[in-house]
Order: sequence, then C-alpha cells, then structure tokens
Amino acid sequence: MCGIVGYIGPKEKKEILLEGLQELEYRGYDSAGIAIIEGDKLNNYKAIGKLENLREKTKAYKSEGFGISIGHTRWATHGKPTELNAHPHLGAYSYVVHNGIIENYQELKVELQAEGVSFLSQTDTETIVHLFEKYYNKSNDAFPAFEETIRRLEGAYATLLITEAAPDTIFFAKNGSPMLIGFDKDEVYFASSDTPIIGKATEVYYLEDGEYGYVKEGTVHLFDSNGSKSFTKQALTADKVSAQKDGYRFFMEKEIYEQSHVMGDTMIGRVLDNSINFEELDENFFEGINAIKICACGTSYHSALTSAYLFERISKVRCDIEIASEFRYKEPLLTKDTLFITISQSGETADTLEALKMAKRAGLKSLSICNVDNSSIVRESDAAILTRAGIEKGVASTKAFATQMMVLWMLTLYVGQEKKSISKEVLHKEIDAMLRTPKALVVTDELHAKLQRLSKRYLHGHGFFFIGRDIFFPLALEGALKLKEISYLHAEGYPAGEMKHGPIALADSELFTIALMPKTMHYDKIKSNVEELSARDATILAISPEPFDLADDFIQTTYDSHPMLEFFEMMVVTQLLALEISVRLGNDVDMPRNLAKSVTVE
Ligand code: AGP
Repeated sequence: MCGIVGYIGPKEKKEILLEGLQELEYRGYDSAGIAIIEGDKLNNYKAIGKLENLREKTKAYKSEGFGISIGHTRWATHGKPTELNAHPHLGAYSYVVHNGIIENYQELKVELQAEGVSFLSQTDTETIVHLFEKYYNKSNDAFPAFEETIRRLEGAYATLLITEAAPDTIFFAKNGSPMLIGFDKDEVYFASSDTPIIGKATEVYYLEDGEYGYVKEGTVHLFDSNGSKSFTKQALTADKVSAQKDGYRFFMEKEIYEQSHVMGDTMIGRVLDNSINFEELDENFFEGINAIKICACGTSYHSALTSAYLFERISKVRCDIEIASEFRYKEPLLTKDTLFITISQSGETADTLEALKMAKRAGLKSLSICNVDNSSIVRESDAAILTRAGIEKGVASTKAFATQMMVLWMLTLYVGQEKKSISKEVLHKEIDAMLRTPKALVVTDELHAKLQRLSKRYLHGHGFFFIGRDIFFPLALEGALKLKEISYLHAEGYPAGEMKHGPIALADSELFTIALMPKTMHYDKIKSNVEELSARDATILAISPEPFDLADDFIQTTYDSHPMLEFFEMMVVTQLLALEISVRLGNDVDMPRNLAKSVTVE
C-alpha cells in the first residue's frame, strides 16, 4: 500500500516529509518522492528503492520559510517501479500525490491527450494533475478547478495537490483510501495514517469518504457533496507502535485482517476479465519449459506444496517441491527444461538463496515469488513476481502466505494459457473463484469471538494433529506451523489418510485433532478418517461447511463450489486459532521466542 504525507507551515519541510515517509515504510513501497513550493521556488525529488536513496538525493537541499509540501511512498500497481512512475506527479506548475486507483483514468487520459496534454508516466495518478491544470487554465481559480477535478474521478483515492497558482494552499480529497489531517496550532499536516504525524500534531481529523477541501492560513475548509461542512478534531495518540497496529493487539492480528484487502492488490493488473496477465514475464518465458521445481522454506514451502497440486491438475505440468536446506546438499538431478521457482516473503532466506544459485549454476531458468522488491532472491532471479502483501511485521507469516497462494494460483492458470492446457470454461471458472477470494478472507466478529472462546480448551494436552487431504494437507502443515511458532505447543500437520499408518496410536482425549473437512475435496474420505479418530476418543475440532456431530468443537465455514475458496477460509480459521491460543498463553505473538522474521543464516 502507498503512503502519503503533507505539511503547510514555516518549519523545515524536507525532514518532516522524509521522517513521515519513514514511518510509513511498514506499508511497503518501491519508490518515493517529495515536492515543496516556497513562494516561487518549486523543488521536486524522486527515487526508486529504499527511502535512503531519496535522502541521498536531497541531502544538499533544505527548505526555508513558509511553504507547502507533499510526499509519497509508492507500491507499484499501474506501471513498473521507476522514477517516472514515482509520485509526486508534475503538471506544468502543479504536483499531486495519490493513493488508490482511478478507475476511469484511461478515459480521462485519452480526453487530455486529445487536448494536447503529454503524459510522462504509466500511472493513473498523473491524470489528476493534468485535469486540475486543464480547469485552472480556464477559470484561473484554483479551488473550483480542484473541485471539478475531484468530481470527474471515479474509484478510490486519497490525494494531495499543490500548485504554483496557490503557493499558500494544499488541496486534498479522500474517497476509499485513508487520509487524515493533523493540527498543531496554525500548522497543518496530512498523512495516510497517524504514525507520520505523531509527535508533530496534537489533534487530528480522520477524513470521511467523499470529503475534500483546502487548507490555507492554518484553516481547513472542508466540503462534501452537500457543500461546506464543519468537523471536530480529536486528540492524537502519542504511541507510534500502537498506531502502526491500527488498533489491533498485534501486527499478526492486523495482518490476518489485512488479507482480504491486500489480496486485491495482489490481483490488480493480473486477473483480467478472461485471462491472467503477468507484465513481469516476457511472452516467451515458458518456452522450452516442461517441468517446474519449487524451492522454499517454512510457510513459503507450504504454499509451494499446495501449488504442486494446482500445477499438475490445472496446468498439466509436472511440479515437484524441495525444502531449500535439503535441496542444497542432496546433489539433485536438474534438467534445463525445468523452471526453478523460489518462494520467499523476505527474499533474504539463506537456504533459499543458495538453492537458487545452485539451480542457476546448473543452467536452469529462475523465477522468484517474493514480497520484497530488490531483495537478494529477487535480484538473483531471471524474473520476479511480487506478492504485494505490504510489509509483514509478524514473525509468523500470514498475509504473505495468502498472497503467495494467490500468485501461485494465478501462475497455474497463466501456464495453462501458455501451454494451451486449460479450456476457456475452466479458465473462466477459476477466475470467477479468484475474484471471490477477498470476501472469503474477511474475518467476521462472530468467527473471531468463537475462536477466542474455544481456544481456552486447547492450552494443554500432548499435542495437536492438523489433518487434511489434497491441498488441505499442506494447509494442515501450515496450520500446525502457525500454532507451534507462537504457542510453543507441539503440533503436526498430517495427511488424513496416513493417520491409520501409525499416528492413530496417539489417539486419546488429550490428542487434539484439527480436521480440515472441505465439502469440495474428498469429503467422505476425510469424514471417515475423522470418525476413526473420534472412535478412539481423540478430541476433534472440525472445520467444515458441513455440520459434523462427532466434533467436540465445530467451526462452520461457508460452502463454496471451489476448493481454493474453502482453502482460504479455513486458512483464516487456523491462523486465528493459533493467535488466540498464543494470547491465552501470554506469549509474544509478534516476536515468538527463538525465531527471526528472516533467517539469513544457514
Ligand atoms: C513462517 O511463519 C515462518 N516465520 C518461517 O517458516 C518462514 O516462512 C521461513 O523462514 C521462510 O521465510 P521466507 O518466506 O522469508 O523465505
């Protein structure tokens, strides 16, 4: 997600903007920029990559005196992460920053180009500044020009605009993307969340959808579709870390709730009406590829395991999976018709990186699926597809796993398109299911409350078995890992059909079985596996759309005709279960003992 900051007043502005953007780093970005107007002096700096690149570019610059200023960190959705696509975007004499998506930008761009406007970037944002100048050049009146501009926009936006035509004013508008206004006496700040202005502003107003206006001489003039309106400021919290958690108890909890939203970012520009598109991949990328090998660690290994079922079932391409720390020393047989895919949230996992280098030395083509642009694994790979989950701070991975799964699912369809191994009907059915995924990831109050209640029964015992079949077996592994990582209780993920080959000897009332029982995937078989365990007095927590009366605890999920939708919904249940058990045990959910967010050593 992108980040916005703004400031109007007499203080030095560069530092205010850069410090503010630094506070928004946790949202994830791949470029950044600032623009400052002081009287007749305009200064605009942009840089790709990390904020220190922008700091380096601006180190000789220092603003003086009263002025207006805006800053932005960009997470590329439309157009690659380049300086040209970085915000602020410049017109002839105005700058704009924007979060969200202007859904009618193509139509606006064509209209403006027909009037002779030339565009520098591939972004939707640039249309805002040219539209404003189009209206200002006619009316010579800045606010009505801004008002008309906002009226033309369709979609989600949080935007700030500054212009030489009004060097004492910042224009703002909010619809669908967050933005707030901070106050400190007659100085005014803007930001996409409160952390950038904590310690600077003392009061805050959180803009509502459809609100817009301008600030001049320390006064905010607020409007909505009914005209001018008043507003009430509230005290601003002074605690940055709790602010970054946006009110959740833990980053992990926040990131579980974010899954529904970030999934939309993961799909932007990739899930089209009747096809899948990856602008990161050259059109002949899969030429000569007859097999896929995926290599990863931990949770990333679980998303890889899940995708193997999809690649073979949907794309009809052989796919095998490797644990990176094993792969490195097994003297593998590698053939050049195999695409070597690495999956990594951090892009810095040592075992995965070394495995990638091994495959490259053997002459294999490489692709990474990663959440951090410009990371070592991304830079080492022939191509990279970013998961766009935003920065994941909880050590126990959640939204990164969910977005890895979505990228892999999209990739199976993409390979099916390339190999012509998927029919139009199947492709359409899969895309239809994909578009319903964000809804399947929504955490409802009743679900969370139920898991909070029943977690009290699972704080002891001699262990947990998470069991599932097909793609629900890797999900069982992932659910067990989540629980182990943050509760420190022992848990295993196991193929449901394998329990009778030994582990069922453990069955008794102190053995907790978390049974993933989807209706769309071998339900009758998983049901009989669970009945065998129940008959031996195992304590069963069944997760299923179908009521199961032998369950000691039961979480009813939504029936959906597609197994991946059941997969994502059950994933949320296992994540919340682990979270609530860990909370009851009083553990540090975000930074569990002995663990690091990125294992950069062997
Ligand atoms: C996941 O919850 C764990 N934190 C861990 O297993 C992690 O998935 C593993 O270390 C791989 O990390 P990566 O995805 O950054 O490569």
